[in-house]
Amino acid sequence: MTVLTPGRNIVLIGLMGAGKSTVGRLLAEQLGRPFVDTDEVVVTESGRTIPEIFAAEGERGFRREESAAVRHVAALRGQVIAVGGGAVLDPANVTQLRAAGDLVLLDAEPDALAARVGDGGDRPLLAGDDAEARLRALREARAGAYADAAGFAIDTTGRSPQDIAAAVLAWARRQPGLLARDELQP
Ligand code: S3P
Repeated sequence: MTVLTPGRNIVLIGLMGAGKSTVGRLLAEQLGRPFVDTDEVVVTESGRTIPEIFAAEGERGFRREESAAVRHVAALRGQVIAVGGGAVLDPANVTQLRAAGDLVLLDAEPDALAARVGDGGDRPLLAGDDAEARLRALREARAGAYADAAGFAIDTTGRSPQDIAAAVLAWARRQPGLLARDELQP
């Protein structure tokens, strides 16, 4: 009997509209790994939508629930994880995620991010008009935290999810212990 040790987690970080969930699902499918999204964990665990949590408890309340979701998902290995865009602003979350995974930043120009989020969807930080201006400001404010947290960064502007997933996978193959032995087979 062969006992397979699971690989480390591939953790996708970056702004809203960076493609974390779309690319994460593709990667998970290609590797046969589970895909988890901390936003979805927050919604499931709390039984509320993200706008409901922001409305009732403000951003601080949401961040508390997000940190709990990060602890939850970082306890397991062998997953592809997408975290909400603000998760890595808390260094404790970065420590948790790094303990069992490698962090990849998906970046893009503000106009590309804005095109992908459309009207902002259910993202309280993009409510109101001019999502592109908000994304530009957040990108500037968060650039340092994203760069510090990430072990690898990809500019996704103008690239398809398939192409981005392939780039992450090519990088992942070179990281010792990130992929399990069976995942390294061509
Ligand atoms: C946020 C990003 C959102 C969600 C929340 C706050 C942020 O997740 O966690 O609305 O602070 O950037 P996505 O990045 O998955 O859209």
